[in-house]
Amino acid sequence: MTRTPVNVTVTGAAGQIGYALLFRIASGHLLGADVPVNLRLLEIPQGLKAAEGTAMELDDCAFPLLRGIEITDDPNVAFDGANVALLVGARPRTKGMERGDLLSANGGIFKPQGKAINDNAADDIKVLVVGNPANTNALIAQAAAPDVPAERFTAMTRLDHNRAISQLAKKTGAAVSDIKRLTIWGNHSATQYPDVFHAEIAGKNAAELVNDEAWLADTFIPTVAKRGAAIIEARGASSAASAANAAIDHVHTWVNGTAEGDWTSMGIPSDGSYGVPEGLISSFPVTVKNGTYEIVQGLEINDFSRARIDASVKELTEERDAVRALGLI
Ligand code: NAD
Ligand code: LMR
Repeated sequence: MTRTPVNVTVTGAAGQIGYALLFRIASGHLLGADVPVNLRLLEIPQGLKAAEGTAMELDDCAFPLLRGIEITDDPNVAFDGANVALLVGARPRTKGMERGDLLSANGGIFKPQGKAINDNAADDIKVLVVGNPANTNALIAQAAAPDVPAERFTAMTRLDHNRAISQLAKKTGAAVSDIKRLTIWGNHSATQYPDVFHAEIAGKNAAELVNDEAWLADTFIPTVAKRGAAIIEARGASSAASAANAAIDHVHTWVNGTAEGDWTSMGIPSDGSYGVPEGLISSFPVTVKNGTYEIVQGLEINDFSRARIDASVKELTEERDAVRALGLI
């Protein structure tokens, strides 16, 4: 049976993450090896030529699953009939820019894109925001899309999740594939909280195996939370291939589900679980089945975790209040 192609829109397609992302989408890693895709690339006018170059390279790969590529600087065209939207393009913080300036500049991007998604996307649209500040940009886009169910707007903390698994594997000598049920709570920022208290390593509790609270507090958490800055320092540019890989993981899991006995981390609109104010886009442990995610309920939160979740949620609340004051939500 011939499947109908899935329309995947990527914004910031000519950027570094875009370059690492598009070839994997086209080769079937995002949705599956039997799912054809149409790519829609959204760029600003200055980025269109480079996007055309990337499209030429995509053509040159002769990917059997790639049915079409459209390049545009018009969000209404880019999101027309979109089933999956990866919002990667964002305004980076530049020298002398205050946090409010950054939020305001990104409001100018994510508000119109949210409206274009609202007006043009397919009914089953799933949105992943990668561009920073990802959680609050997702909130801005979601607020501009009142006709789209709020839970379709998500923010990426899968890179943090993957980073935490890798650090834990290094510390314990375990295989990455043996680590399950790790959680990133809160914001994709330095306040995020990677939680190992419910994680398992080959079926054993990770915190008990590590048995070193000082390592957790002074090494593990800061290494994961500040990894983005460490990459920028080392590479002279922010993470790109690992960010693209995490975006692929996030959407693949959202579409295809979590493995039995495991969960993942996604930035999603809070329903008030674990004391996170309703509506904030915060990272939670989630399971996914049939394209729908659910927050893992009933986890016991110890004092160590509570203080750190609360600190990250406080930052998200402040970001929300700032964009509210700017009239962006
Ligand atoms: P980049 O500067 O290389 O590329 C960004 C692209 O977005 C550029 O080509 C630019 O022209 C385009 N763009 C800007 N405004 C746009 C708009 N309104 N519509 C469409 N395109 C637009 O940046 P990058 O390295 O690809 O990173 C992109 C974003 O992802 C940054 O905000 C970065 O901080 C963020 N990021 C997030 C994570 C995460 O884990 N959530 C990880 C890494 C990077
Ligand atoms: C990352 O986590 O690698 C990025 O979000 C860092 C950044 O500021 O772009």
